[in-house]
Amino acid sequence: MRPLHRASSLSSFGDVLNPDEAQEPILARPVRSALLEWLTEIWAEKELVEVGLSPRRRAIFHGAPGTGKTTLAHHLAARLGLPLVAVRPDRVIECWLGQTGRNLGGLFDAAGPEPVGEGPVVLFFDEFEALAGKRVSGARNAEQERNATVDTLLQRIEAHDGYIIAATNYADHLDPAIWRRFDMHIRIDVPGQEERERILSRYLMPYGLPSRSLAALAESCETASPALLRQFCEAIKRNLVIGGRVGWDMGREATIRRILASVSPHPDLGKPALWARGLDDRAVEMIPWPLPYAEDVVDVSVEHAERVVPGEVVPLRRGQP
Ligand SMILES: Nc1ncnc2c1ncn2[C@@H]1O[C@H](COP(=O)(O)OP(=O)(O)OP(=O)(O)O)[C@@H](O)[C@H]1O
Ligand SMILES: [Mg+2]
Repeated sequence: MRPLHRASSLSSFGDVLNPDEAQEPILARPVRSALLEWLTEIWAEKELVEVGLSPRRRAIFHGAPGTGKTTLAHHLAARLGLPLVAVRPDRVIECWLGQTGRNLGGLFDAAGPEPVGEGPVVLFFDEFEALAGKRVSGARNAEQERNATVDTLLQRIEAHDGYIIAATNYADHLDPAIWRRFDMHIRIDVPGQEERERILSRYLMPYGLPSRSLAALAESCETASPALLRQFCEAIKRNLVIGGRVGWDMGREATIRRILASVSPHPDLGKPALWARGLDDRAVEMIPWPLPYAEDVVDVSVEHAERVVPGEVVPLRRGQP
């Protein structure tokens, strides 16, 4: 029987994200180098084959929530000019005996080469620990079923010729045999000072901060994830747009207080100084108010003055390092 059209069968297992929707993440140096190394290797496939090697095709991204694992996977697929199929565990895992394994079979078949599948994609498994957790010895049906899922996954990963990226917040929960099937294990940490400054600048656009005030704010956000930094910046902009209309006090302190009360870090991830000290943090009084537009800030450093509007698509093409 001819399989379903790929677009419909792959999308029944998750979200198909196209290259032109990808956003370029702001990465720390070690991750940037790992990414560049991988891409260079992929683009040098022909030369590698000539010496009996092939480019690595499987990577695990592990790190805290909101550090950009999904963003990076999507970006990487875009650099390869391929759609990213972000597999949703709830669309694959089923309680009926054997059904999860059959779903995995259908997924890998659909993601495979023609004529069975319909050409290359990057398969992305988010929350990978839900599918690939450590196998346990146990006689209960649920345990046997989970073990069988990992066995199926091992076989299908091994036989699959395309790119696979898996992401997890819990690297230590993954089955060791699964871990070994991946040739790269890239740890994504929370951003450092330089990356925090760039992330804040990006998401504050079209507003901007003078470099001293940006540096102070970024320092007070130490341990914050990119996701939290984005939420913080977007909350400021949202307040600036709607605050006046709903009659809020739009002074600096009142605005920052509202934002810190509505956007906060996950309790497990540590509290950046800005949230611990609140309005007493010195970075708050260093924010010029009313918040200036970036183009009006005289000493925005060139490096930080990305003219990228949040959400704007960064065009990426195959072969672009
Ligand atoms: N390195 C980055 N540069 C710029 N923006 C980022 C970066 N990392 C994350 N973001 C932004 O933070 C948000 C969360 O990112 P993402 O979903 O990629 O994180 P994640 O690590 O996959 O999280 P989870 O573990 O919860 O799945 C996104 O809106 C993304 O735009
Ligand atoms: Mg994610």
